[in-house]
Amino acid sequence: MDGVKVFVADDVSESGLEPLRAAGFQIEKRTGLKGDALFEAVRDADALIVRSETKVTAELMDAARRLRAIGRAGVGVDNIDVPAATARGIVVMNAPDGNTMTTAEHTFALLLALARRIPQAHASLKAGRWERKKFVGTELRGKTLGIIGLGRIGRVVASRAQGFEMKVIAYDPFVSPEQARELDIELLPLEAVFERADFLTIHTPLTPETRGLIGAQAFARMKKGVRIINCARGGLIDEQALYEAIRSGKVAGAALDVFSEEPPPPDHPLLALEEVVVTPHLGASTREAQESVAVIVAEQLRDYFLTGS
Ligand code: NAD
Ligand code: MLT
Repeated sequence: MDGVKVFVADDVSESGLEPLRAAGFQIEKRTGLKGDALFEAVRDADALIVRSETKVTAELMDAARRLRAIGRAGVGVDNIDVPAATARGIVVMNAPDGNTMTTAEHTFALLLALARRIPQAHASLKAGRWERKKFVGTELRGKTLGIIGLGRIGRVVASRAQGFEMKVIAYDPFVSPEQARELDIELLPLEAVFERADFLTIHTPLTPETRGLIGAQAFARMKKGVRIINCARGGLIDEQALYEAIRSGKVAGAALDVFSEEPPPPDHPLLALEEVVVTPHLGASTREAQESVAVIVAEQLRDYFLTGS
């Protein structure tokens, strides 16, 4: 397959691309390109591999005149204009379960960081202070975790929470009450999840229906002192409404791995709040998950070009 050129535009695991190399594909990896430089780089590519940084627009597809396939080394394809790809006969492939465990673990790391205020206590001690009274946390046992989106990641988060003896409730319009019961999870309407959760975590895709799902009306229904975790997509939470809910004391803390604009501007109001714990879209960033998603996408691309399926 010497003639097939694959352009890798984001930071995708090198070893994970081995199935393509072994099959003789030509791989060019240049990350961080924008605008004309990116358009020029994809001009002769037959396939494009991205994570979440590169926005694959209709214009980019038109610049890549030979493009037949786009591989997303991860779950969310919201950075790819899928209808535009379909209209051009370009296949879009992703790696739906390659980073599930890793992202669920990061979600739980954020949840624990929020409950025990670990990042704040760490910063305080490194700054030379010993503030034991200031950093009293909250125990997880007996608390209610609300999960919005009971898919792959949501379910792993649920099982970890049950290990901590939390009560797990969830909202997902595509999961049946029987499926939830088997997992020992109480499936409820969205409003009831907002009302009952002590901790609330969201694991849905970003779609027109889910954009802004957690906004001012949702915060108004929540318990005072609720803690929020978002390790899915930035646009799912209305950031201005979250800021106001934290300032008013309704929300005790939020842990965010994702932002509506990435990277968020340095003067983003949420970054200034002590109650907010952040990571720079690290949910899927373990060596294991990155290798796994790269292999899954590389194998799909290889099979597509070799066999047409
Ligand atoms: P999934 O498809 O397995 O699960 C998503 C679930 O959301 C499904 O069960 C679906 O029924 C449910 N859902 C859809 N619309 C809904 C709605 N309106 N209300 C409630 N539930 C709804 O996906 P997943 O692998 O669990 O990934 C979940 C999210 O996490 C995605 O947005 C993905 O892009 C994101 N993600 C982020 C990172 C990261 O680095 N932070 C890593 C992996 C995945
Ligand atoms: C995903 O949707 O899989 C994540 O955004 C992972 C990533 O690319 O970091």
